[in-house]
Amino acid sequence: MKKELIFDGTAYTVETIEIDGKILTYRAFEDIPYCKNPANERMQRLSIFVPEAFYEGKMINGRHLKNAPIFMPNTIGGYMPGLQERPGRSREGHVNAAFHALLHGYVVVSPGTRGRGMINERGEFIGTAPAALCDLKAAVRYLKANVCRIPGNVNRIISNGTSAGGAMSALLGTTGDHPDYAPYLDEMGAAEASDAVFAASCYCPITNLDHADAAYEWEFHGLNDYHNKKMVPAEREGDTPEWIPVDGVMTKEQQNFSDLLRDSFPGYVNGLQLKDGAGKALTLNEQGEGSFLEYIKSYVAASARKELEKGSDLSELDWLEAEDGREPVIDFRKYVQFRTRMKEAPAFDSTALGTPENELFGTKQIRYRHFTGFSFQHSTAEGQLADALQVKMMNPMNYMEDEKAVKAEHFRIRHGTADRDTSLAISAMLAAKLTEVQIDTELFYPWGMPHAGDYDLEELFAWIDHVCI
Ligand code: DHB
Repeated sequence: MKKELIFDGTAYTVETIEIDGKILTYRAFEDIPYCKNPANERMQRLSIFVPEAFYEGKMINGRHLKNAPIFMPNTIGGYMPGLQERPGRSREGHVNAAFHALLHGYVVVSPGTRGRGMINERGEFIGTAPAALCDLKAAVRYLKANVCRIPGNVNRIISNGTSAGGAMSALLGTTGDHPDYAPYLDEMGAAEASDAVFAASCYCPITNLDHADAAYEWEFHGLNDYHNKKMVPAEREGDTPEWIPVDGVMTKEQQNFSDLLRDSFPGYVNGLQLKDGAGKALTLNEQGEGSFLEYIKSYVAASARKELEKGSDLSELDWLEAEDGREPVIDFRKYVQFRTRMKEAPAFDSTALGTPENELFGTKQIRYRHFTGFSFQHSTAEGQLADALQVKMMNPMNYMEDEKAVKAEHFRIRHGTADRDTSLAISAMLAAKLTEVQIDTELFYPWGMPHAGDYDLEELFAWIDHVCI
């Protein structure tokens, strides 16, 4: 290993911050390059934050410098570049998970990652798939290559992310050390070490992209009004972008796409040969009904039950029947109408190109590409189709039964009942498959939660403490 990938335990600052009456003093090792040949020197770095109490010989919740879990939240959203984040407030003003994690007694590692839209001095796109995932892998490798020098326990790395970041967390947890990614990691000059993580926390993962259009139409078919929003980038770097509403009605052609995509979904689900926790097959008939739909409904019902137990009155909801003591009954079609459609069909691989996912699957030279045969065939933009391997590498479902992929031991997946960015089927398929391959997996649909993450940190940390005993 070259010298520059050796962790320097003497290069740090000590900071104290106070938020909401909570005082945190931490040691910060910042801006450390995690690979030898970065495509972007500014982004491909990580920072390590450690409770200063650990250096004073104190313990927090039974954790100390040697045994503390390493919490590794990524800041990836929209498949865009993810900046390293210090403990404190995020750009939107929320107190971030890193702040709470340090108070709780974890070491925090914040990696910067490349993302779509990034270009180098030659005008090449450097953030296309699998760049961001390989950046996270390189960060993990850096920590493991420095096992004796790094604060915390490198065998207890817990990745965390939301949305596109949740997808990356799911991929980190399912593709450890897989040879598919080796050429990219070699080119980057990543450290020679394992990139497998111990556990993965995934909020509303925007994943399984090559089947997400079909899943979306299976769920939202019949709703032709869409209610989306568009980001207007801030004029000055560092300012918060603005979101403006985009509402409309799907064209006849899009409605036709919706029919076709919906009809293609049962074949995919049935091909996965999923089972529920009790070993019962999860399938769909041609109408899109069956045990897989009931499985999803059972998670929505479990969420409603928890909400009812808190004392909430849900009697106004026309899609929920909740008689005393009985498991709530969900009318799925009415529930979907209640949620409303966000995206036009096809939701991810646009026939006109231009979505975040089309950009994710670009190349150095081509900004946007298709990644499904369906949208490629119906392309109105003469779009090209991404290479099969690039698409494969972004889908955790492809690595579940592959023994060359080292899996996380524990998964925690959350997908809010009000989320419309992707189908609930996406997280359900992920969780069912993980469980089937014997990975300890928790799936829950938090009540009324939209597309969001990090909203239940106390529970997340309780889970981490439980799996990291
Ligand atoms: C994200 C949200 C989306 O709806 C999407 O298609 C991709 C990414 C996100 O929030 O990261």
